[in-house]
Parts: sequence; structure tokens; C-alpha cells
Amino acid sequence: MKTAVITGASTGIGYATTARLLNADFHVFGSVRNEADANRLQRSFGRQFTPLIFDVTDEAGIKQAVGLVREALKGKTLDVLINNAGIAVSGPLQFVPLEKFKLQLDVNVIGLLAVTQAFLPLLGGIQERKENPGRIINISSVSGVFVTPFMGPYCASKFALEAMNDAMRRELELYGIKVVSVQPGPIKTEIWRKAKEDDTSYPDTIYQPFLEKRSKIIDKRSKNALPVEDVANLLYKITIHKSPKTRYLIAPNSLQIKFIRLLPDRWADQLIFKLFLSAK
Ligand SMILES: NC(=O)c1ccc[n+]([C@@H]2O[C@H](COP(=O)([O-])OP(=O)(O)OC[C@H]3O[C@@H](n4cnc5c(N)ncnc54)[C@H](OP(=O)(O)O)[C@@H]3O)[C@@H](O)[C@H]2O)c1
Repeated sequence: MKTAVITGASTGIGYATTARLLNADFHVFGSVRNEADANRLQRSFGRQFTPLIFDVTDEAGIKQAVGLVREALKGKTLDVLINNAGIAVSGPLQFVPLEKFKLQLDVNVIGLLAVTQAFLPLLGGIQERKENPGRIINISSVSGVFVTPFMGPYCASKFALEAMNDAMRRELELYGIKVVSVQPGPIKTEIWRKAKEDDTSYPDTIYQPFLEKRSKIIDKRSKNALPVEDVANLLYKITIHKSPKTRYLIAPNSLQIKFIRLLPDRWADQLIFKLFLSAK
């Protein structure tokens, strides 16, 4: 039986991917942050699912979870680690409170690295083990390749993730561990509601009218967002593919994203500015 660790399994992409891998007869270890979610998931997913309770910013909690997975694997290699847990902090960089910016990096960047370091020995990241290495899939974002205004904190975290992803891929090649980045665009999950809540925090600034428009743009985008099952299916394919690509973009408007990335910076700036002015 193949095995997977998925962080952030309580909702959204993590939840759907857990369901998808269980459906393909994997044993899934899914991380949540509280007992209530652990029980809820255990009830829905049954015996092939093991909840792990930890926050990615809590090294002791991660270590405990690694011990539990190691015991369950009984010397076998973990097939895949899916680094999915994440939050989206938005707000203009001029005003975003530094503690919110730090939290963004703590969860999406340092937390991801802490989890990866801790699980690497189980994936085959030790000198003595050369056979059947596992693989790592990092859930990045379109925001890891293209920056939009008022998403500076989130984009900074996903750009950092992209850099770590490439460093890991090149370093872990020595163990045969494949590292893949998945860059979703808008996907229907709770993250949209959470990101919108942040817009209310800058009422007396020059940015407020733009933030209101941004809220409308997010509403429109979230209506066209892809279903979470599309990402779960892609993650399943990457998990079992003999030689996966190094990165995958999955978005309803992927051609538009590829096009805008080719534009000179000033043209892209103008395009974004016009988008904000014309938003209704
Ligand atoms: N939805 C999109 O449009 C989209 C687009 C691009 C990239 N992504 C990426 O996809 C990943 C999953 O997001 P989602 O859209 O599925 O959102 P979501 O439904 O909000 O799921 C986020 C998951 O991360 C967990 N989490 C948050 N902070 C954590 C922490 N400190 N420690 C451990 N777990 C933590 C959450 O747990 P709790 O329930 O306990 O908070 C939840 O299980 C994120 O990395 C996100 O950046 C999403």
C-alpha cells in the first residue's frame, strides 16, 4: 500500500486530495490543527486515514507526528509528502502589520521547510537508503510566478517557496527524491473568503477604493474558480507518474497568466491598473 503525508487536510485542496488518494488505496496521514478536525476526518475517511495533529510552526508537534508515521511505516519509505498547508495574508505592503507579514512567512515558508526537514528521512533522505525514494509536492501558487498588488505578503511567501522548491529539487536529486511545484490559480476553497476578510483593515488609506475593487475582482474570480477536485486529480497523477514535470500550472485562465508574464513590466503594470479602474 502506498503512503502519503498531506499537511492542511482539514479543508480545501488538502481535504480533497486526501479523499482522492484514499480512493486510490493509499494510506494517508493528514495534518490538522485540533482534536475536533482529527475526529471529523477520521469519521469521514475511515481506517486508511491517520490524523496527525500539529501546526507547521510548532517544531515539537511536527517531531511527534514524524514519530507516529515512522512507527506506522515499519521501516518502509514514505511515498509522498504533499506540503499543502498555507494561509493568504493580503494588504498593501506600506501598511501591512509586520506581525501579519511574519506569520505569512512562518506558515508558508519556514513551516513548510520545518515539515520537509522532519519528514525527509522517511522519504529516503538519508545516506544509507538508496532504494525507492519518496517524492515531495509543494503547493505553490500562480502568486509564486506573478505578483498582484495587495497580495505582496502572500506573493513573497510563494516566491520564496518557488526558490526553496528549486533548491530542494537540485539538492535532493542525490537521493533520487523528486520535488514538484504545483501552481494553482483560483480554486474554489475557503481561502477566498479568508483573503477577502483582510481587505477591511485599511479604511483610511489611499488604497481603500482599490481594495474595494479588488474585493469585487476576487468575487468575480472565485465564481470562475476551478473545483478543488481538479487539483486533487492532478496531485494524484503527479504522485504516481514515473517522471513528473518539475512544475504544473493549474488555473482557469492559464493562457492569460502565461501571456501576462511575457509582457514588459510597465505594460503589465498598466494592464493591472486598468483592471482595477474598470472593475465594477
Ligand atoms: N484556493 C486557491 O485558489 C489557491 C490558489 C493557489 C494556491 N493555493 C494554496 O493551496 C494550499 C491550500 O489552500 P486551500 O485553498 O485549500 O485553503 P484552505 O481550505 O484554507 O486550507 C488551508 C489548510 O492549511 C491549514 N493551515 C493553515 N495554517 C496552518 C498552520 N499554521 N499549520 C498547519 N496547518 C495550517 C488549514 O488548517 P485550519 O483548518 O486548521 O486552518 C487548512 O487545512 C495553500 O498553500 C494555498 O496557498 C490555493
